[in-house]
Amino acid sequence: MADTTPRATSNRSTTPGSSTFKDYIGSQWAERERPLPEPREQAAHAAARRAGISELHPGRTIVVPAGQAKVRSNDCDYPFRPHSAFAHLTGWGSETVVGSVLVMTPNGSGHDTTLYFRATAGRDSEEFYANPEIGEFWVGPRPSLAEVAADLGVATADLGDLDAVVDGLDATVLVVRDADTDLTRSFDERLGSAVGGAPEQDGAPATDDVLARDLSELRLVKDAYEVHELRQAVAATKAGFDDVIADFDAVLAHPRGERIVEGTFNRRARADGNTVGYDTIAASGHHACILHWTRNDGAVQPGDLILIDAGVEVDSYYTADITRTLPVSGTFTEVQRMVYEAVLEAADAAFAIVKPGITFRQVHATAMEVIARKTAEWGFLPGTADESLQPENQFHRRYMVHGTSHHLGLDVHDCAKARREMYIDGVVQPGMVFTIEPGLYFQQDDLTVPEEFRGIGVRIEDDILVTEDGAENLSIGIPRTPSEVEGWIARSGR
Ligand code: GLY
Ligand code: MN
Ligand code: MN
Repeated sequence: MADTTPRATSNRSTTPGSSTFKDYIGSQWAERERPLPEPREQAAHAAARRAGISELHPGRTIVVPAGQAKVRSNDCDYPFRPHSAFAHLTGWGSETVVGSVLVMTPNGSGHDTTLYFRATAGRDSEEFYANPEIGEFWVGPRPSLAEVAADLGVATADLGDLDAVVDGLDATVLVVRDADTDLTRSFDERLGSAVGGAPEQDGAPATDDVLARDLSELRLVKDAYEVHELRQAVAATKAGFDDVIADFDAVLAHPRGERIVEGTFNRRARADGNTVGYDTIAASGHHACILHWTRNDGAVQPGDLILIDAGVEVDSYYTADITRTLPVSGTFTEVQRMVYEAVLEAADAAFAIVKPGITFRQVHATAMEVIARKTAEWGFLPGTADESLQPENQFHRRYMVHGTSHHLGLDVHDCAKARREMYIDGVVQPGMVFTIEPGLYFQQDDLTVPEEFRGIGVRIEDDILVTEDGAENLSIGIPRTPSEVEGWIARSGR
């Protein structure tokens, strides 16, 4: 499990192998004396989250791996990102050591937690200088067990000690199965299929599926630290949108202007955060009608509306998810403005009802009433708005096939394994953060709409925090009304 053998690169390795060299490179290094860090602010929040999951699964060992890096090709990996459940329960952010595993062991009254990770290798090891994947000379040093223990406020142990722990497990262990599939397979082989299995039956012991569900539901209500991080993510995203607008001349000049938009936004994401929270959508002209257009290889033409759906993920992995649809030449045409204002009305109507006690699905229903009414008024529907809103009709959904809201947090589509009754049918509570993102998309070959509407796609997406008595739009500072948007572009000095 704690294998540190590098993947084969022996056909091009030039590393000297003599003991003389090994002795030499392992010697004459200054001692590193670093004071132990104070616990990070998030440590107390992560402890409370662990207490929450502990309470739900008394007497069960809970294993939450960070996971392994995915191979891109040969010895090159995709950037590593730990499983979000691991990030949530540890508070460890973008400096997480690959392959770490959190183990919560029942202690009679709750659980003891130990974080297993590959501690830093000594300078006398071959790994130190000769392992391109994890060696200090190649990818930088790792923290010590003591440093991480102090930083995160959990007991730590070397990953090499995990084997002995796993040997002592029985089939009642609960594991986050999709985090580290090799580790899960080793559990299954050792303990049989009882580890995973079917969803909980009445009175039956919890399964891994139940653990995954509970970990998702634990994230439905954000704590103060998470809200702070989401605010940071939104602020960095605003800066990214500012950068893109300031770059519009270059965007218009390049044959793949959408890529310039993506590059400019993503530069801000890397500079101010960890990366983007999802692939940036830069969709100009009729590409805006393709909901998740991430190819971004199109030109941006004068007069286009460009739909930009982008979010910065900060170092703690919380991400924004924001869409603005912008007239690249600075002003909306009459038809573009009509569509834009309809979408804005839907977004504002949905936001206006958000407060604790409503159900999540009411947000979508409210936005859809506006979308149905507007498209009926314009004569696009085969009937009235009321007829269209009947469950069996839903004609207006031709122009907006997606939902209006999803939870937001460590994942852009957060809490994905929460039960339906906790999610779409769940009751909205203070501390929840979700998007409101209605849109209207008139495909370029849609014969149900007049020609001047075809090829127009508009989405307006904001990140909403539920407060004690209402809601706060975290992204209200990013211009969103037509006049604010036009002013924003004008101020960019183009
Ligand atoms: N950016 C994907 C979404 O809005 O859900
Ligand atoms: Mn979204
Ligand atoms: Mn989005």
